[in-house]
Amino acid sequence: MYDYLIVGAGLFGSVFAYEANKLGKKCLVIDKRDHIGGNVYTENVEGIHVHKYGAHIFHTNNKQIWDYINQFAEFNRYTNSPVANYKGEIYNLPFNMNTFNKLWNVITPEQAKQKIEEQRKAANIAKPTNLEEQAISLVGTDIYEKLIKGYTEKQWGRPATELPAFIIKRLPVRFTYDNNYFNDKYQGIPIGGYTAIIEKMLSDIDVRLNVDFFQEKETFEALADKVIFTGMIDQYYDYQFGVLDYRSLHFETRVVDNTDNFQGSAVVNYTDSETPYTRIIEHKHFEFGKQDKTIITEEYPKEWKPGLEPYYPINDEKNNTTYKKYKALAEKETDVIFGGRLATYKYYDMHQVIGEALSVVRNELLT
Ligand code: FDA
Repeated sequence: MYDYLIVGAGLFGSVFAYEANKLGKKCLVIDKRDHIGGNVYTENVEGIHVHKYGAHIFHTNNKQIWDYINQFAEFNRYTNSPVANYKGEIYNLPFNMNTFNKLWNVITPEQAKQKIEEQRKAANIAKPTNLEEQAISLVGTDIYEKLIKGYTEKQWGRPATELPAFIIKRLPVRFTYDNNYFNDKYQGIPIGGYTAIIEKMLSDIDVRLNVDFFQEKETFEALADKVIFTGMIDQYYDYQFGVLDYRSLHFETRVVDNTDNFQGSAVVNYTDSETPYTRIIEHKHFEFGKQDKTIITEEYPKEWKPGLEPYYPINDEKNNTTYKKYKALAEKETDVIFGGRLATYKYYDMHQVIGEALSVVRNELLT
């Protein structure tokens, strides 16, 4: 008999399992995939750690969480500084003085501010009613047209004029020559890949892969006193209040034979509307790899429907209202704890998932 059945060998389930095991609790972790790690899974292909479910860059401002994850791996000095490719023109991201210099030949922050202000004024949008107006009212037309419009429309599969303004609350604009995407104190990529971290977390724990909890729910529940559930909360409750919507993604990964350096950057965003993918990831650059070959992944946004991989929750009013109903049921459970991105219907970065898992450990096992 186990103390905990943990559904999902992703970061949430693995952190919980590791901590519970350390406190003497017996855990069984199951996952329907054929590997551990959930979406942070990396696969070693020709010595390159391929981020199978999209680029994963660890970043946090929280020293405790940084120290926590560093128990399991050493991190390299990778700094996320993606570039944008708009019809062959290359711009630095996030929007900063390098971007503005390339766009308008401006040199000083004052000149850049003036340019943005001129464009915002000319657009004269008092109350934005859609995403396009919202973005222009924040950063002006040039940045919007070249760096936001095409990318966002591909991401959401709809014209920006038909997307709600609330999707973009702020657009960080930086008036320094600083291409570091994140403002966080700590960031990097684990040397040896993310899968090695999860392997360490689960090294003393029983794990069963290729098993779907819902296929044998009663059998699995009978194995443990409590369940930690990190799958989709609407599925857990048999979709009784309706299906929660997501955006999905499709990844095309290939080894490029004729070059060892395809794009000179781990992440290139394609911001025009003609290119069908939103990003190309060149995995070796996360690790300053020197291999003879290189591996790239094109990332295509995709409409989600049940059965496809759910990536980004759509936290609009309709879905949030539905989620609240599921959450109310979840809160009444005494033997099931819901955690992680799918069970709480939230986009979480890795550091947030670790923080949430540790807080569940504190409530559940240390109080
Ligand atoms: P996760 O989805 O990883 O794990 C849940 C597991 O449960 C899965 O393995 C699933 O198979 C399993 N499961 C579900 N239902 C089941 C069932 N019925 N039976 C058995 N198993 C079941 N974060 C960050 O900090 N930096 C970054 O750069 C990125 N980049 C990024 C890119 C993309 C494209 C996405 C979508 C996300 C990111 N993230 C990120 C976020 C990061 O992926 C996220 O924080 C963690 O993977 C969440 O871990 P969880 O354990 O919550 O879910």
